[in-house]
Amino acid sequence: MANVSDLYEAGVKAGRLKPDAAQRGVLPALDRVARELAAAPPAAGPRKSGWLSKLVGNGNSPAPAPAVRGLYLWGGVGRGKSMLMDLIMEAAPVARKRRVHFHEFMQEIQAALEAVRKTGQQDAVRPVARQVAEQARLLCFDEMQITDIADAMIVGRLFQILFEEGVTIVTTSNRVPEDLYKNGLNRQLFLPFIALIRERMEVTELTSATDHRQNRDEGGQVWFIPADAGARSAMDALWQRLADCERPAPLVLEVKGRKVELPAHCDRVGRASFWDLCAKPLGPADYLALADAVDTLFIDGIPRLSMSNYNEAKRFVTLIDALYEARVRLIASAADEPERLYAEGEGAFEFERTASRLREMRGADWGKPG
Ligand SMILES: Nc1ncnc2c1ncn2[C@@H]1O[C@H](COP(=O)(O)OP(=O)(O)OP(=O)(O)O)[C@@H](O)[C@H]1O
Ligand SMILES: [Mg+2]
Repeated sequence: MANVSDLYEAGVKAGRLKPDAAQRGVLPALDRVARELAAAPPAAGPRKSGWLSKLVGNGNSPAPAPAVRGLYLWGGVGRGKSMLMDLIMEAAPVARKRRVHFHEFMQEIQAALEAVRKTGQQDAVRPVARQVAEQARLLCFDEMQITDIADAMIVGRLFQILFEEGVTIVTTSNRVPEDLYKNGLNRQLFLPFIALIRERMEVTELTSATDHRQNRDEGGQVWFIPADAGARSAMDALWQRLADCERPAPLVLEVKGRKVELPAHCDRVGRASFWDLCAKPLGPADYLALADAVDTLFIDGIPRLSMSNYNEAKRFVTLIDALYEARVRLIASAADEPERLYAEGEGAFEFERTASRLREMRGADWGKPG
């Protein structure tokens, strides 16, 4: 079995990774998870759901082995948390493992809960959590952040049952657990979840001084400031070159009965204004669908962001997360450099990740593979 340290050092040796003392500092914690997973008895496996077990009730199925203690890895942007999570995914010697963006996972959970509730079941969380546990013994969540009250109110029970079912959770986050769902509605109901994380997961900070996204080679210019007439004509010229259709047409995606519209589209190259994308009540599912539908996206007129356009700013953060995850190439005009778009006030913290990503997305090698 390879351990995470070996994979990391192999990456350094091959020149893919720059040695980083803080990253090396958290490798033992990752190795510990992989080692314990290797040593733990195989999980109970999928519960039988045939007629017999229904008859005798689930209480009679053997209790799953206790979950190996997982890891909550948190720290600043671009420090390498997601990269380290990829390494543990590779190293962990379990067949049923899954890495998923936390947003995307919660979308799935909410949809599954809705489906179960329609059948008239009172407690929907338990069957849904069991379904998840059947599919994965190791769950890696990238970017745990909780901004939605519906998510905030169920994660505690969800995780509790996942742990009971023997699932090991490794997660990355920009925030220390105590700051999750900070200032959220009904936060007191959320606090047991924080206690649960502390109890069932090892919490480790990645304190690297290096944002590995900075100092990349930039590609051609793809970020035009300020968003004035000059930027407009530069964007138009790029659009002429990349959207090579006789007549670009709008693209309308259907997401859960909602319509998500890109005003202009041509062969996986799309164009919209900031307001087209962020002024309508769109959410993660819509942006994931959009990110899936294009390889390159033009966004015109990203304004300065602040508390005064907080909802639009929040959607923009979600949009960039989706575009980043899907490696969509972004061409934009904006009021300022990413780091200065959201200078202060509530929401500025979340925006640090967005700014760091916008930087990385300018890189010459950015884009969907193939
Ligand atoms: N030691 C390293 N050497 C070279 N590149 C690295 C190193 N660590 C990370 N990177 C690269 O830097 C970029 C940022 O790393 P990563 O995405 O893992 O950061 P992160 O901590 O998850 O950031 P965020 O909080 O924004 O999600 C990635 O492209 C990653 O591959
Ligand atoms: Mg990350």
